[in-house]
Amino acid sequence: MRNILNIGIIGCGKHADNFHIPSFLRLKNKYRIIGFYDLNKNRANYLKKKYKVGKVYRSLNSLFKDKLIDVIDICSPPTFHYNQIVKSLKNNKHVMVEKPMVLKSLELKKIINLNLKHKKKILCLQQQNLRDETKILLSFFRKNKKKLGKLILIDGKANVKIPKQIGNSFTNKKISGGGPLIDQGSHILGLIANILKYPKIRKMKSFILKKKKIKKKNFIFNIEHAAYLNILFKNNINFLFETSYCYQKKINEFLINFYFKKGFISWPKLEYNFINSKKIKKINHKLPLKLASDNQFNHFYEIIKYNKKPITSLINSLYIVRLIETCYSRSKIIVDENKSL
Ligand SMILES: NC(=O)c1ccc[n+]([C@@H]2O[C@H](COP(=O)([O-])OP(=O)(O)OC[C@H]3O[C@@H](n4cnc5c(N)ncnc54)[C@H](O)[C@@H]3O)[C@@H](O)[C@H]2O)c1
Repeated sequence: MRNILNIGIIGCGKHADNFHIPSFLRLKNKYRIIGFYDLNKNRANYLKKKYKVGKVYRSLNSLFKDKLIDVIDICSPPTFHYNQIVKSLKNNKHVMVEKPMVLKSLELKKIINLNLKHKKKILCLQQQNLRDETKILLSFFRKNKKKLGKLILIDGKANVKIPKQIGNSFTNKKISGGGPLIDQGSHILGLIANILKYPKIRKMKSFILKKKKIKKKNFIFNIEHAAYLNILFKNNINFLFETSYCYQKKINEFLINFYFKKGFISWPKLEYNFINSKKIKKINHKLPLKLASDNQFNHFYEIIKYNKKPITSLINSLYIVRLIETCYSRSKIIVDENKSL
């Protein structure tokens, strides 16, 4: 294996631009960008020019056939992930894929089967699991197990502005696969599942809120605008999750509160208190926080180079995909007549 992994990037939108490429360039002793493909060639040309690296492929096939590339980094919208993962494997490439990994559990089962033959490394980039704040939280849980007592309730919120997008990639269901439930849900549910070690579910109930019609020039919005989920895990931990896309409101809530019998902790703020103390404190850590994108690419490098176990295995990813899929198929849908978001 080469010491420096050669990367081909599919999907040259905001996320590749703001996070993946700057990370690969920082980690230049581990990664080299070979080239870009985007359905919109201007985007690929823009990134090549901006960062002065790599080439632009005219077709997806020419990227897959490039023998120089070791790893495909999939940053296209979710609907395309499945086919692009399958083609990467068939062309003997390792794969990193942005969340949500795929839309359907059946697709992921097919990938798992296909990879029995190809034996490539595949990682869904559930970056919340690799955030330094998550590592600090888990170490606080471990060190204060007795003081905190039993974990009873987890309350997660992801009420965010509609992401800036290219070609309605987050708000047109045909491209995104869904709204905040799949977009933000894959972050929060992915993290909770990882912290609780993918627990069995005893009961779950969910609601989805949809707008009747939103009409604006060049803006397609045919996804849910909010979702509510309540899960009782078999270990008796209750999980509440609320997510929405807001258009006008200046709201940006992305947090999880963990309630224990004798204490409370919030993530990613890392504030806590114990039942008998009045003051909310912040977990004291000496670490300068590193970027989650650097952490995740360092992790993937170790998976390939040193055969390290991935933080999110394909079976773990299947749990998350299945959970979100079940929410969409079983949720009660409420139509909201109010036309503004
Ligand atoms: N981990 C995170 O925090 C995080 C944050 C934002 C986005 N994401 C994920 O990254 C992915 C991309 O999001 P984004 O914010 O960059 O979106 P974006 O709208 O900014 O860009 C999407 C890009 O994909 C291109 N594209 C569309 N269809 C394509 C296809 N079939 N093949 C190749 N390219 C295609 C578009 O032309 C566009 O350039 C999504 O899966 C999203 O969920 C993750």
